[in-house]
Amino acid sequence: MKNQNKKFYITTPIYYPSGNPHIGHCYTTVACDTIARYKRWQGYDVMFATGTDEHGMKIEESAAKAGNSPQEYVDEIATRFKKLWAYMNVSYDRFIRTTDEHHKSSVQKIFTALHDKGFIYKGEYSGKYCVPDESFWTQSQLVDGKCPECGRDVIDAKEEAYFMKMEPFAKRIEEILTSTDYLQPSVRVNEMVNNFIKPGLEDLCVSRTTFKWGVPVPFDQSHVVYVWIDALTNYITLLGYENDAHNDFDKYWCDMSEGNVRFHMTAKEIVRFHSIIWPAILMALDLPLPTKLYSHGWINFDGKKMGKSTGNIIDPFVLGERFGIDAVRYQILREMPFSGDFDFNNELMLTRINTDLANDLGNLVSRTVAMVIKYFGGTLPEEQTADDSLDTELISMASGIRAKVDELIETPQLSAALSEIFTVISRANKYIDETTPWILAKDDSNKPRLARVLYNLLETVRICSSLLSAFMPTSMPKVFAQIGCCDEGEAVNEHLVSYESAEEWGVFPATITVTKGEIIFPRFDVSKELMLD
Ligand code: MSP
Repeated sequence: MKNQNKKFYITTPIYYPSGNPHIGHCYTTVACDTIARYKRWQGYDVMFATGTDEHGMKIEESAAKAGNSPQEYVDEIATRFKKLWAYMNVSYDRFIRTTDEHHKSSVQKIFTALHDKGFIYKGEYSGKYCVPDESFWTQSQLVDGKCPECGRDVIDAKEEAYFMKMEPFAKRIEEILTSTDYLQPSVRVNEMVNNFIKPGLEDLCVSRTTFKWGVPVPFDQSHVVYVWIDALTNYITLLGYENDAHNDFDKYWCDMSEGNVRFHMTAKEIVRFHSIIWPAILMALDLPLPTKLYSHGWINFDGKKMGKSTGNIIDPFVLGERFGIDAVRYQILREMPFSGDFDFNNELMLTRINTDLANDLGNLVSRTVAMVIKYFGGTLPEEQTADDSLDTELISMASGIRAKVDELIETPQLSAALSEIFTVISRANKYIDETTPWILAKDDSNKPRLARVLYNLLETVRICSSLLSAFMPTSMPKVFAQIGCCDEGEAVNEHLVSYESAEEWGVFPATITVTKGEIIFPRFDVSKELMLD
């Protein structure tokens, strides 16, 4: 296999377990899952990681509100994240929690190393302080000059804290951002360079004394490590950096062989931490940098970012029960543009499900299978007649689609990849109208031509469903079973749906046998469903 020895390491952000996971968290995780699955299919050696970022004052507070200890509280919510990923058929290889012992001890070693190298120093943090909330805020975080959490007055206050120097890394970071395609989409590059690097990078506050729920600074126990050093380093501690829990750090992070990828995905609000602070930490530790950072937009609801603090969250379990997991996966992956946001609403979702999944893909599969059964008893005959004028365009579109999807996955433009695949699916539906199998069936002398038409449709469905299985991993095996990709005993014949076979035409034997199955994507009655809201 072509990509066999290449390493592909992909990560989601580690999510705060300060509330239940919602459809926004789902987007990043499902997008990473799709890429991870596609890369495995291409033959890469994939490590796909996700997890939870469990320290900090917010968690301490949420736990207190719930009447639990912070540890009990994060245990419960981390379990919910894991349940959701299992429910959404997310194929992560490793789940890290920042409360894992191996992570905590690595963070302490990293903090000490940065201190010993002179990059971390003790200073004073000054800012706007809310006494009742015991929280520091920056001027820009204040709402009408008051605490954004409780609305009360804030005072100027100072606190002893450790800082990490940023300036030594600024030039190299700017170069990476501006002269490579490390950060995508490129609109974010200008934001980072103009808003943060050009005005001069400020040193980063990396410790706090105002809360206890964190990793203690090993040489100064009144401080805990403040969020970003604890959080960002998960990407290497989970591979075993500075710990014995795992042994994959050299393999996935340090092997500089051509074609190896270290890929982080986040939404745009934390792009600064991933494009500036994270490279600075790695540079300070003399470690290799990630090769790719993609920061997507937000799923909004009524124009506002969906999130715990806004309270406008959509529960993926509820959506999945109502519409099916793969329909949810499809909808979010299809709607999210490469560099913008999208506004979630049920009507849009129902229209997508009905149009793309039920009408275009679902009908193509069920009509094709039904016709093979009706006209040939389920198995096509050997004798088949091609018709170049009608077949050529469909064949060239279907056999050329894998190359297009390969390219779009790299960037990654998942919505565009889906749109390309569905263009081929629409073309196949048009091919049915053009070839009119029901008319061919009326005359026995047309049977070889009819068989070829159905064969071409089955081949097109085989290629498209193979490509779609990274996006919709639960329902595509059902398509495989119907169109004849399963051996007796129902195991998928991997050769028929392999990466290599997805760009070859004519992989099915002429005498392929289909099997009638359930409706894969049911249609919804839009007005009835919307009344349920
Ligand atoms: N814990 C930090 C990340 C540390 S990574 C080293 C954090 N956690 S978070 O729970 O707030 O998750 C933020 C991430 O969740 C976003 O970057 C994005 O990946 C995902 N999303 C949360 N809400 C989202 C939307 N409404 N829309 C799209 N993605 C969303 O920040």
